[in-house]
Amino acid sequence: MASKAKITGVSHYVPPKVLTNKDFEKMVDTTDEWIITRTGIKERHILEDGKGSSYMGAFAAKRALEEAGVSPEEIEMIVVATVTPDMMFPNTACLIQDQIGAKNAWGVDVNGACSGFIYATAMATQFIETGRHKKVLVVGADKMSAITDYTDRNTCVLFGDAAGAIVLEPSEDPELGIIDYILRSDGSGGKYLYQLGGGSLHPASHETVDKKMHYIYQDGRTVFKYAVAGMADITEEIVKKHHIDSKDIKMLIPHQANMRIIDATARRLKLDPEKVLINIHKYGNTTAATIPMGLSEVYQDGKLQKGDTVLFAAFGAGFTFGSMLLRWAI
Ligand code: UT7
Repeated sequence: MASKAKITGVSHYVPPKVLTNKDFEKMVDTTDEWIITRTGIKERHILEDGKGSSYMGAFAAKRALEEAGVSPEEIEMIVVATVTPDMMFPNTACLIQDQIGAKNAWGVDVNGACSGFIYATAMATQFIETGRHKKVLVVGADKMSAITDYTDRNTCVLFGDAAGAIVLEPSEDPELGIIDYILRSDGSGGKYLYQLGGGSLHPASHETVDKKMHYIYQDGRTVFKYAVAGMADITEEIVKKHHIDSKDIKMLIPHQANMRIIDATARRLKLDPEKVLINIHKYGNTTAATIPMGLSEVYQDGKLQKGDTVLFAAFGAGFTFGSMLLRWAI
């Protein structure tokens, strides 16, 4: 019988430079109070110039491999979730493969925006479940500062840079590991959150630069409305499907876009606040990195025991959304 995939190592990387809400008060027309009450964010970390998402991803990946006791040469496949690849091609997975010395691995990038890590993990899980691969690395890495317009108060206060990584291996126990996931998308929401320039439709030109088309555009209010309902719905769906009682959930690790979106999901599941990972105040929205980074922090804090029920939940550009159910296996 096919085995489940289990996480055997997890880690993350956050660059040292910090931008606080006070810093933003000097840059745009905003206040610390507005940012905290509307989003929950206090500060975010920014990667230095001259380094891309692969740098952070490789850092997190190396540490996750150490945690798992797996050597880079043993990795067979690398899946990287990112919307800020170092470049259009080669893909970030190849750059990370080279940086960590995973010389026997093939790799691919997944562009699922804020749901990217759940999408990437679901895809990687298939290769373990079919028996095709035994050791797979999944990375979520985004340098959002590279596509943020620091004169636009609507978006610049929201995002930060970070990476997280997990190692997946087959689970001997079918009750432990990644149990299930629900993945969805709604492309009609694409017009509310995007980066227009630099692709084949609007290749980089003086015009795309002048019109600021290489930056994030977001209709925040509309995305908020869809995200509040979308993330809560898809998380409730997986919980109901598996007949899980809220008291049996050890941790919800939701995408960190807005404190109010996270609260709505937690309320729907009737979860006590201590069962919900919140780190948005420290890092802002780091897109594909939020979930592996949250998992890494929870694990490092010693909050997870073997057999614990953990949920991931995300909603993001696309629209993309998804939830994942796992039983902690380390
Ligand atoms: O992770 C991917 C998915 N993304 C999300 O899930 C994000 C979803 N959206 C949100 O989290 C929220 O919509 C935001 C945090 C982006 C905005 O919060 P909001 O409560 O929806 O504010 P709003 O966009 O409705 O703006 C309210 C007011 C506006 O002023 P007027 O038009 O009412 O005069 C904005 O111009 O707040 C203004 N505003 C700001 N004021 C101070 C917008 N940004 C700022 C700012 N500082 N940084």
